[in-house]
Amino acid sequence: MTVLVVGSGGREHALVVALSRSPRRPTLLCAPGNPGTAEAAENVAVAADDLDGLVALATDRGVGLVIVGPEVPLVAGLADRLTEAGIPVVGPSKAAARLEGSKAFAKDAMARFGVPTASSRTFGLGELDEARAYVDGHPLPVVLKADGLAAGKGVVVAETHEVARDALADMLDGGAFGVAGSTVVVEAFLSGEEASVFVLTDGEGYVLLPAAQDHKRIGDGDTGPNTGGMGAYAPAPVVTPAVLARVEAEVVRPMLDGMRREGQPYRGILYVGLMIDAQGTPSVIEFNCRFGDPEAQVLLPLLTSDPLELFEAIAHGRVGQTTVEVADGAAACVVLASEGYPGPSTPGRLISGLNRAAAHATVYHAGTARSPEGNVVTSGGRVLGITGLGDTLEQALAAAYAGADEVQFAGKTLRRDIGQKGLRRLDS
Ligand code: AMP
Ligand code: GLY
Repeated sequence: MTVLVVGSGGREHALVVALSRSPRRPTLLCAPGNPGTAEAAENVAVAADDLDGLVALATDRGVGLVIVGPEVPLVAGLADRLTEAGIPVVGPSKAAARLEGSKAFAKDAMARFGVPTASSRTFGLGELDEARAYVDGHPLPVVLKADGLAAGKGVVVAETHEVARDALADMLDGGAFGVAGSTVVVEAFLSGEEASVFVLTDGEGYVLLPAAQDHKRIGDGDTGPNTGGMGAYAPAPVVTPAVLARVEAEVVRPMLDGMRREGQPYRGILYVGLMIDAQGTPSVIEFNCRFGDPEAQVLLPLLTSDPLELFEAIAHGRVGQTTVEVADGAAACVVLASEGYPGPSTPGRLISGLNRAAAHATVYHAGTARSPEGNVVTSGGRVLGITGLGDTLEQALAAAYAGADEVQFAGKTLRRDIGQKGLRRLDS
């Protein structure tokens, strides 16, 4: 069977590597892919947001399953287009992908289905005065979220009313977030520890993967600006079996049941971003309609069941008859980014040490490219994700950092504290 993975980041490289281990030996295509995916798949130069091009590629090449990595094509309706063309797909319909594509839709859905989340109000264009009055009377910090996709940059956690008012004006008035910001969700600040739970579902049956923890800020100790994610590990001990049981009962089941009841069943991978307070009470911060990046780079290597069987079960409505098997140990991923990330960075820096790193850990490519001479060079903000495995989180982290330290490129930027929160919980 031929399987097409859509995307070009570390998440998609991890999908390609996982699928390449399937005993069924699928033929793998990746669009557009990166130098890492090229090692196990055929890269095809179709952009991840080129819906027509992707449907044509899948049709022409007789693709039997499409796995969509990023959110943009899903929110634009790629899964619907593939379904119309009779091609099985892992990824939600445009209607269901609104759980990520519109924060206002997600908040409304959670309210209808009784799912725990921060209290909030939504304001549209022309409601700047009402929004201002609401924000002025809101306890601090207050959180403002641009409604649409904003590549992780649509959230402002305001510590003062002045900052909140300015952010609101930018979002509702100034066009700082483009169309994404013409509606704003104002919500209460949640404190606790963040973690994410991934649900693989055909809309009815579902399985849960071990909880993961991302590191969103650029700097050690969770300082500096938000990024796409600087590292992750799984399982995340903050999500105890009791917390996971609550997430399943209070979030996963009501969401899947509610979406199905309303005629927009959620099929694909549901990313549940959570805040877990000191009492172990989970609240939803956000939903994403896809795997996390870099969370996929720790979850997929822990799978011991055939990932192809699992993805086919999602696409063909067989998840209820499927179980997922996961290794007992831990996985940790350290992201190597370019200097300047999450701001702009200079591409074209020569990368060395990839083979030495591979002796310790799995090297997932993200923002890399081949130079005309055939060398691997940097080409983006997040360059590589180095995933270590071990019997314990400590061993997984040691392997990931041993690999990360072998890789060199000018301006290499990484966090040194990936997994520390998990280690502290395991120690106490
Ligand atoms: P999002 O784009 O919704 O993932 O938000 C980005 C980040 O902002 C989250 O990962 C959290 O760290 C933070 N955040 C979002 N909403 C809240 C909230 N209600 N309370 C505290 N932190 C939040
Ligand atoms: N790592 C966060 C995300 O994929 O959205």
